[in-house]
Amino acid sequence: MTARLLDGKTLAETIRGELAVEAERLFARTSVRPCLATILVGDDPASHVYIRNKRAACEKIGITSRHLPLAADVSAARLLTEIERLNADREVHGILVQLPLPEHLPTQAVLDAIDPRKDVDAFHPTNVGLLSQGRPRFLPCTPHGCVQLLHRNGIEIAGKHVVVVGRSDIVGKPLASMLIQKHSTVGPNAADATVTLCHSRTRDLTQLTRQADILIAAIGRPEFIRAAMVRPGAVVVDVGINRIDRGLVGDVAFDEVAEIASAITPVPGGVGPLTVTMLLANTLTAAREIIGEVA
Ligand code: GUN
Repeated sequence: MTARLLDGKTLAETIRGELAVEAERLFARTSVRPCLATILVGDDPASHVYIRNKRAACEKIGITSRHLPLAADVSAARLLTEIERLNADREVHGILVQLPLPEHLPTQAVLDAIDPRKDVDAFHPTNVGLLSQGRPRFLPCTPHGCVQLLHRNGIEIAGKHVVVVGRSDIVGKPLASMLIQKHSTVGPNAADATVTLCHSRTRDLTQLTRQADILIAAIGRPEFIRAAMVRPGAVVVDVGINRIDRGLVGDVAFDEVAEIASAITPVPGGVGPLTVTMLLANTLTAAREIIGEVA
């Protein structure tokens, strides 16, 4: 393998250490511990694991968590009532409804019901709009993780051609929105990119992906990005987590792409640990804002 490995696991530990210090300082000043409320509807095993990881990460850095498990057949009315209760609860600073929800539930209406000040996923239309206008309240967790991974590894984004493959509301769209901004709250040269957003109806995908200085795969298809789709020397970020017979793989055919990229994220151990870390950062930000602290 010739590419430099962009190690998300170690970086996540570093940033979590910084957040633990901030959480402790907040507690020393205000006697408030940030609190994240999680809601999980049904018993999808993968969602259970994600929630468990998120809650464990919270506890480790001095953020408390509260969990509300709901039956798979819960009514929309009951779910909305629970969200209203958490919105009104002064001890709760962040609310996360784990997706996907069962089909009978109106996902958009559920996300819209979360108080935007507690919307640590940054899925609420108000927060999507603020991000789009370049004045984010919260940065969306997975896109923010991608940008941190690049920035803290010394990879400049400004002026680069970034090709994002995948247009989901959780990753592709908000990531494009972050990267095209003039300024980034992440740091200097962490935005100002030229962005191409590709999707399932894109024509000549390979011709576009081969133009990328930075290629970001977020399509949810195992090993979809092959070596022939990557320009030699490009930086490749793999957001995918796909479970196949062989185990967990990303959206990038790692072994062959690592031979031609200059840097690449592994799966697991790349973007994943940073997604959870950015959720912790947002919960801390939410707590500060709700308490009325600015820094
Ligand atoms: N399911 C998969 N990714 C996410 C995420 O970032 N947030 C929530 N709430 N659910 C998810």
